[in-house]
Amino acid sequence: MRPARTSLFHPKARAVLAASALLLAAGCAAGGSISIPLTPAAPDINAYPPMPKGAPPGASARAEAAAKALGRGVNFGNMLEAPTEGAWGVSVTDDVIDKAAAAGFASVRLPVRWSNHAGAEAPFTIDPAFMTRVESIVDKLLAKNLVVVLNMHHYRQLDGDALDAGEAKVADALVDVRFVMLWEQIAARFKSKGDRLVLELYNEPHGRMNGEPWNVLAARALGVVRKSNPERPVVIGPTHWNSAGDLAQLKLPNDANLIVTVHDYNPFPFTHQGAEWVTPVLPLGVTCCSAAQVADMTAPLDVAKSWAAAKRYPVYVGEFGAYSKADEASRVTFNRTMRDAIESRGMTWAYWEFAAGFGVYDPVKLAFEAPLTCGVSVVRVTLPAPFLSSTFRMRNLTFGATPRLAALEDSAPDPPMVPAMCVPCPYSSVGVEVANERPLRKS
Ligand code: GLC
Repeated sequence: MRPARTSLFHPKARAVLAASALLLAAGCAAGGSISIPLTPAAPDINAYPPMPKGAPPGASARAEAAAKALGRGVNFGNMLEAPTEGAWGVSVTDDVIDKAAAAGFASVRLPVRWSNHAGAEAPFTIDPAFMTRVESIVDKLLAKNLVVVLNMHHYRQLDGDALDAGEAKVADALVDVRFVMLWEQIAARFKSKGDRLVLELYNEPHGRMNGEPWNVLAARALGVVRKSNPERPVVIGPTHWNSAGDLAQLKLPNDANLIVTVHDYNPFPFTHQGAEWVTPVLPLGVTCCSAAQVADMTAPLDVAKSWAAAKRYPVYVGEFGAYSKADEASRVTFNRTMRDAIESRGMTWAYWEFAAGFGVYDPVKLAFEAPLTCGVSVVRVTLPAPFLSSTFRMRNLTFGATPRLAALEDSAPDPPMVPAMCVPCPYSSVGVEVANERPLRKS
């Protein structure tokens, strides 16, 4: 069972560890000595100074290009950020990699719970088998020409949250330095990957990270990432679960190769109805999307757009989505509305998520959930016979007399991104069939 998203912040007294180990040698009547085993010296977080902040220069052309290349993406959620892979029902199989690529997604965001696969004491070594597993997945995704956003997700103690079953507690005084030293290892391991790999420091900082603690820790972590990856684009998001409303408090380090992320799950009573990890569980039966709901969905996007214009950093909406307990027609409308709202504000996105409770793909049937996919994917469509001899318009698409993709014209601002879906939804009403056998053109 997944823990509550709305868990309250309970400030914790921070134990202070002695900076140096204790060694007692006591003489005794017999003239001998006793020694108490050494406790390894606690690493000093000040060995990882925060990068200077307060004058971020705005994004480099490299960061702008990376943000654009993220395009339309999808999260491989509930896979590697579960306490262990498979514990939440889905794994990163070759099938999901193949299908995500074939569906035409430009990028995959890969959430990873590094904290449950690393030592509890310095030097907090990441389990080599787990590191190799993550690297092999990243390599497979890159080989499919996908852009990959590799993050750190669900380091529960960092936010002051309760641990999931089976997780080992770390001494309170070590939690933050462990975060930085995990990044030191991850960044070193992935430093030779090409430009299509982007790193994201932390998913949805909240709780004890809210406010200045996150600004300082992010600047420390970026400092260690920059030692091995001087120019790789890095994603940083604001606190309160990557809320656009917290962008005003986000203090970016003075670094040009940054992309900023926000998450948008508005309207929460719709997107998270019945979600077991939200306390209290929200009632079912909420539909979408009224004018008031659309205003709720787009308000954070407007905040992000204004912030991006003022600060000159690109914004990536790393998560939006609606849980499967909402009705399907509403989810399709929600997905399409969000996609269009994000793109019309010049931002790129990743749908939450591919193959679990919010998923667009059924990993058992090995098939896309066609109506849902039509909202967020760029799947190739084949027109059925009744449409072959005619031309019709739907939104900004024109279909000619042929069922092949070549017949599809795109008047969207970014021609290489072909929004080949929703003709109209649900597919069953027009008999359009989804074919995923080969990828669309990608930017
Ligand atoms: C956040 C959480 C993830 C959850 C999603 C939707 O990304 O980290 O576990 O499924 O939001 O609630």
